[in-house]
Amino acid sequence: MCGIVGYIGERQAKPILLNCLARLEYRGYDSCGIAVAGGKLQVHKDAVRVGVLKEKLPRRLEGKIGIGHTRWATHGGPTKANAHPHCDCTGKITVVHNGIIYNFQQLHQQLIEEGHTFTSETDTEVIPHLIEKYFTGDLEEAVARALAEMEGSYAIAVLMEGRPELIAARKDSPLIIGIGDGENFIASDVPAVLDHTSRVVYLEDGDIAVVRKEGFQVKRKGKVVDRQPHQVTWSVGDAQKGGYEHFMLKEIHEQPKVIRDTIRAYLTADEADSNRDIFTEGGEREILILACGTSYHAALVGKYVLEQLFRVPVRTEIASEFGFLGQTSARSQAVVITQSGETADALKAIKKLRSEGCPVTVITNVIGSSATRLADQVLCTQAGPEISVAATKSYTAQLMALYWMALPLARIDLRRKDSLIAELRQLPGRVQRILDDEEKIAQHAAQIAKYDHVFFIGRGINYPVALEGALKLKEISYIHAEGYAAGELKHGPFALLSSEAPVVAIVAPDNTYDAMLTSIKEVKARNSPVLALVEEGDEVIEEVADSVIVVPKVEPLFSPVVNTVVLQLLAYYAAKERGCPIDFPRNLAKSVTVE
Ligand code: F6R
Repeated sequence: MCGIVGYIGERQAKPILLNCLARLEYRGYDSCGIAVAGGKLQVHKDAVRVGVLKEKLPRRLEGKIGIGHTRWATHGGPTKANAHPHCDCTGKITVVHNGIIYNFQQLHQQLIEEGHTFTSETDTEVIPHLIEKYFTGDLEEAVARALAEMEGSYAIAVLMEGRPELIAARKDSPLIIGIGDGENFIASDVPAVLDHTSRVVYLEDGDIAVVRKEGFQVKRKGKVVDRQPHQVTWSVGDAQKGGYEHFMLKEIHEQPKVIRDTIRAYLTADEADSNRDIFTEGGEREILILACGTSYHAALVGKYVLEQLFRVPVRTEIASEFGFLGQTSARSQAVVITQSGETADALKAIKKLRSEGCPVTVITNVIGSSATRLADQVLCTQAGPEISVAATKSYTAQLMALYWMALPLARIDLRRKDSLIAELRQLPGRVQRILDDEEKIAQHAAQIAKYDHVFFIGRGINYPVALEGALKLKEISYIHAEGYAAGELKHGPFALLSSEAPVVAIVAPDNTYDAMLTSIKEVKARNSPVLALVEEGDEVIEEVADSVIVVPKVEPLFSPVVNTVVLQLLAYYAAKERGCPIDFPRNLAKSVTVE
């Protein structure tokens, strides 16, 4: 998705803006640009990567104030003209923007009638023209008047030739101020500024900030408001590859640590008894879990876990569908899972839930994200920054959060509860064993990479794992993959089974085992090669499947963790075998801030 950066200080802006933009590349983009004001404002942009833009920039592009942008096309294709920054008619006011302006057609028409000329197809371009229209000497006031005309979502940074300030504003799209020493930054995402500062201020919806080199002031509805700085605990190293070929591989390998950190954070002091107030006790209730993509698959695992341990009905909903179908009642309590905390569909669902009086707990990996500000309660996962577009460690951290939610109120005997907690503590070691053996998974992946279609099947708590395995494979290797509840294959997909369509079967030693064995036999009878994930010690499936990946023995409730790690590696090595751009798959973005 789009990224915003801004700099004002004593250093040359160009290299700083380029560095900050490079740190945002992981979010996915198709064009980029910067504007720097020395004496004169200069804008350079194109539909290229940041590294290519850097080569094209004039060597003498000097100035100590500037803004930059990575664009992910929504209104208008990925062209030089549509890339940000965008300017007004005079070429003195320039703007970068994330979000969507819903009434831009109307504003565009109105501005044309008033004599403004446009050079792009973007909705963004109306913003500098509106600011130009309202500018009478006070840039902040002109921005405020322009924003008042706009419907939709925005995070913007504004630079005007000859002015010693940047203006930043947000509504429904993230924006931070990075606080330096005699210099300040603007960014849509914390990793953009981590090379320069770890002190950040999270702007809130409706905020307009005037950012100067010596400080900043935030106003809301014309009144000055206090926005306290936060110390970011992530380091630059956390957001770098650290010797791994790809961020995705690094993040897969971080999972034992993520689980350990989560256990330490959640299960200290009172063991699992410290979160009694996540769900209200007593009476009839219904838990509703909403999310998108991989986070939705975590939600599906959460449904099994909460229903088994907590024994209350749990409903899961795809967040983007909730607006059309979703119903709540006085009994409902919601959990919204969003790694980034910025997914537009998830934010919209939270707003709808809150407007219906439903309490919302958000599980997110990003403190200070929009979701954390909308929620009644926040449960922060301990995954650290996730750069690879394909979610891996954040998903595992979400599962850990869901286990932690379920355990304190589990309606199970104390001995079982103690044994589950003891099992949780063993998980990092089990995952590490999978990682230590990744070479074997890479060999299986090399076989999978030869096919164009792959099915993943699972049952019970491993059905969502099949969905996640298929999603990971398709998004990074571009192999067509589908996840199914194993029993569903015979209701249609059987028509596609052949020696050209392998099936990855996730088998757990729980009450689904016999049914999975039957499913594998049925698949084999249709000539599909079967690769089965089996627990160590299993000899039955090995007899039936073509090949197996042996997974360490764990409590079945925790099997989604180990099985998913195997499927992440399978997807990773299949994508590598096919030469795909693993960290930045085509058409995808790290956080999806548009509906
Ligand atoms: C897939 C992936 C996406 C996200 C989805 C929701 O690997 O990362 O499917 O899970 O876009 O994102 P969040 O959790 O940030 O709301």
